[in-house]
Amino acid sequence: MNEITSIDVSEIGTSEIYQLLTTAIAPRPIAFASTIDKEGVVNLSPFSFFNVFSANPPILIFSPVRRVRDNTIKHTLENIREVKEVVINTVNYPMVEQMSLASTEYDKGVNEFSKSGLTPIDSIKVRPPRVKESPVSFECVVDNIVELGNEGGAGNLLISRVVYIHIDNKYLDGNKGLETKKLDHVARMGANWYTRVTEQSLFEIPKPIRNKGIGVDQLPKHIFKTDIFSGNDIGRLGNAEKKPSEEDLDEFQKKSSIAQILKIRGKDEKIAQLHKTAKGYLQKGNLDFALKTLFSDGL
Ligand SMILES: Cc1cc2nc3c(=O)[nH]c(=O)nc-3n(C[C@H](O)[C@H](O)[C@H](O)COP(=O)(O)O)c2cc1C
Repeated sequence: MNEITSIDVSEIGTSEIYQLLTTAIAPRPIAFASTIDKEGVVNLSPFSFFNVFSANPPILIFSPVRRVRDNTIKHTLENIREVKEVVINTVNYPMVEQMSLASTEYDKGVNEFSKSGLTPIDSIKVRPPRVKESPVSFECVVDNIVELGNEGGAGNLLISRVVYIHIDNKYLDGNKGLETKKLDHVARMGANWYTRVTEQSLFEIPKPIRNKGIGVDQLPKHIFKTDIFSGNDIGRLGNAEKKPSEEDLDEFQKKSSIAQILKIRGKDEKIAQLHKTAKGYLQKGNLDFALKTLFSDGL
């Protein structure tokens, strides 16, 4: 059994909760938010309490929190209370240092476009400008501000409806869609850590939404009596759309390697060899053969 640390939230302070939440809930995408006050002074700041919450209407939500140290609010929130518009710009690796610079707590009235050296471009439907260097910029109207509390650390949900989108063509694939591999996105982790989405860190999992997986409860029970299969192996096997049929198995068992294993007299040894072979197929990405191997001892 793993040893577990359990915490009653009422017994720890806000800074500690903040650290725990922002380290555990990671990576978080970054909304690089451009806003404007009623005098027309522009502000640009990053927020990683951010995500997409709806496609119809298209809604992005981010949250400037009340400062824990003195319970003051951020200029971004002040601006949005005055002018309910924001451009949410995405952040990728080539601009990450300039984004970080823009998070400096400059005095009100300081335009972080000038401080960070990023380029403002006029928006089409809203007053705040967008960031030229960002891969994608979403012009938004803020429909709602939900204050989550009055004390330091309290979030303010800025429910932002996308009205116009700008995409830098260099991040498009051949079909005018965005290409994940090209985006070079960064995301915020706990403390001062960031992560970068490189080709090496990306992997795909076939979606089990349209095609129902059989579920791990349909797999042969003997696979749970060994630790050769990881949770991911078992998840992948349970994602198969159907069990192999008798005919599939008859055909498959003619393969010499499986035929040899099935001749082994000792049941435990036979199962162990089937497991080893199935694991090998899984490692090569051959789910079909892995499944047939595991069911070869009987359906
Ligand atoms: C990557 C990154 C993510 C951040 N996310 C948040 C956030 O989600 N909420 C928040 O209140 N502050 C966040 N901050 C800190 C703000 O950017 C910082 O307080 C900024 O100075 C606020 O600017 P403003 O007062 O001009 O709005 C983040 C900083 C960085 C570098």
